[in-house]
Amino acid sequence: MNEMTTVGFIEMKHGTAEDYALLGRYEHEYAAGTADRILEQLARLGGGLSGYKISRLEHSIQTAARAEADGADADWIVAALLHDIGDELAPHNHDSIAADIIRPFVREQVSWVVQHHGIFQMVYYAHHTGGDPEARRKYADHPYYQDAVDFCERWDQSSFDPDYASPPLGHFAPMVREVFARPAWDEAVLRKGVREPLVR
Ligand SMILES: [Fe+2]
Ligand SMILES: [Fe+2]
Repeated sequence: MNEMTTVGFIEMKHGTAEDYALLGRYEHEYAAGTADRILEQLARLGGGLSGYKISRLEHSIQTAARAEADGADADWIVAALLHDIGDELAPHNHDSIAADIIRPFVREQVSWVVQHHGIFQMVYYAHHTGGDPEARRKYADHPYYQDAVDFCERWDQSSFDPDYASPPLGHFAPMVREVFARPAWDEAVLRKGVREPLVR
């Protein structure tokens, strides 16, 4: 018997259980390559967006390197590395893109901080551009508020220094692979409500 390699349907509503089992197997294989595709996308941030003294890739690596130097855990370091990964395709909501990419695989605390880092960063520049630097105050009572403040102050806003000695992107590859190899949406990974320190 020939093994099925494509589905039989041309409209999803006509798919059979066998069709969807086949797609499930392909999806499982494809998902295993997520970490490598993320590393490829990060490498692309080496070009684009000019004006800063360093590239978006260098900024991303520097942000992660500062997190690592602070003794932060893998969730924080990978989040720091990926926090601007949406810049190329979603410059107006890049924080949400990054948060959605990591959300199934990291602590809720960490994806919340990445989701909101854009508005928290405004405190550093919005007074020059006509925005509200204190827009983040609307989250003042949120349990992860201070974590987002610290993420931005310690790691994000400070990571535009061309003289910072960063490791190559490959230094973080094993950590990215470890995080994306976790079971998606596992409660033991999401650890809702738990706050791990940024600095140890
Ligand atoms: Fe950002
Ligand atoms: Fe950033």
